[in-house]
Amino acid sequence: MNRKTKMIIDKELTISTIDKRIYGSFIEHLGRAVYEGIYQPNHVTADKNGFRKDVIDLVKEINVPIIRYPGGNFVSNFYWEDSVGPISERPKRLEIAWRSIETNEVGLNEFSKWIKEVNSEIMMAVNLGTRGIQDACNLLEYCNHTSGSKYSDLRIKHGIEKPHNIKVWCLGNEMDGPWQIGHKTMNEYGRLANETANAMRQIDPNIELVVCGSSNSSMPTFPEWEATILDHAYDNVDYVSLHHYFGNFNDDSNDYLAQSDTMDDFIKTVVSTCNYIKAKKRSKKDINLSFDEWNVWFHSNSEDDNTMKNNPWQIAPRLLEDIYTFEDALLVGLLLITLIRNSDRVKMACMAQLVNVIAPIMTDAQGGVWKQTIFYPYMHASKYGRGVALKTITKGTKHKTNCRDEISDIESVSVYNEETEEVVVFAVNRNIEEDCELTIDIRSFSDYSLLEHIVMENDDLKATNSLLKENVFPVTKNERTTVDNGVVTSILHKASWNVIRFSKNSK
Ligand code: AHR
Repeated sequence: MNRKTKMIIDKELTISTIDKRIYGSFIEHLGRAVYEGIYQPNHVTADKNGFRKDVIDLVKEINVPIIRYPGGNFVSNFYWEDSVGPISERPKRLEIAWRSIETNEVGLNEFSKWIKEVNSEIMMAVNLGTRGIQDACNLLEYCNHTSGSKYSDLRIKHGIEKPHNIKVWCLGNEMDGPWQIGHKTMNEYGRLANETANAMRQIDPNIELVVCGSSNSSMPTFPEWEATILDHAYDNVDYVSLHHYFGNFNDDSNDYLAQSDTMDDFIKTVVSTCNYIKAKKRSKKDINLSFDEWNVWFHSNSEDDNTMKNNPWQIAPRLLEDIYTFEDALLVGLLLITLIRNSDRVKMACMAQLVNVIAPIMTDAQGGVWKQTIFYPYMHASKYGRGVALKTITKGTKHKTNCRDEISDIESVSVYNEETEEVVVFAVNRNIEEDCELTIDIRSFSDYSLLEHIVMENDDLKATNSLLKENVFPVTKNERTTVDNGVVTSILHKASWNVIRFSKNSK
């Protein structure tokens, strides 16, 4: 075999304990994410709160630890007071970010019931587009203050006795983007974020605050934006956010699978910028990263432009319903590997989004639910990627791309879970022409043996799933991996996602 990669992993060589919140996701009041997505009271599986049980089951299968809410672009003109209290009294609003009608049938208190059903927690965003400090404080008081004040008593009047105790708060959304309602310059936003953070901390000192970084690494203001806003807000915030969507715009699959390197470069530059401001301020504290929007998003772009331009003001229109291919799942696997490899500084991340809108889970209003191709790498990473990320020493063959010269054939990361006594190697062979042999020196895990080698491969890079047929799904191929004297040899099929699990031999 011409294509070969050698790796060494060692129990003692660690990157970091992985914060499970890097397997987070996102539900925005957008398209069919909420209505006909998580909530559909007339559906056969609906529970007493109107939530679809079939969707809940799939969210639980992924085991999503944190979910960002309620936007996204939506949050920049969100009036949270409209979304609480008696449902019959809630106003319908023009939702101007996505040119739809928001009925407010589901709001904060309903969503928090749903979040409990899926065993997750909320990452809440405040409106710093059309509103500001006062509104952010009122919302925090409503959510987290016990009782005896205007907004905490209002929550109690709404039937929610105990505070929601939401820990993580995003200070607005994509404030660097000209498309954002209430878009700001970096100095305007930096000052506002700092003052808002300062005021919110007076109400609840235990919250964690995320300041908006750049909407992607091609923004003209990147990375000056990060340096400037952190110059204003460093002492009062805990994380800076990163957003990035990827797409095979030129239909060049070879180039497409190189895009995880773009994510890696983006992360490294933001880390450097945080460190630069830390040094400038002579600070002792690190700012960590919340990659709170990432995914593939491009299939539905022109259809969405058309809907919003020519058919606006619908309730729960079909928007951002990308149907994902097999190669999209490979890129999602590569992006997850990149996040885990940077888990020393990336402490939270949200696959955007979770249901119907650029999502791993799709619903049919009259029928059931189905899993997109990207469901599987996300579920595998969340399920098996808990524990400590290990540093991997890697040497291997490379191949040419148009966008980046040479890139590695194999991208991988290993995770050691001390509790379950398992070691997992996640690996993508992003060479779309040739299989590759992977050898891993795992001598420090000499008492471990192969549990399973899960593979996703397909001869058709453009294969998709649907309600009627699942064409892309994982299978177990243990014959592809052997372990001999602490050396693992695996065959990674061209263009494949691999999860190789090892467990400690029982005595
Ligand atoms: O996730 C879809 C949109 O992408 C979000 O609303 C926005 O924050 C980003 O531009």
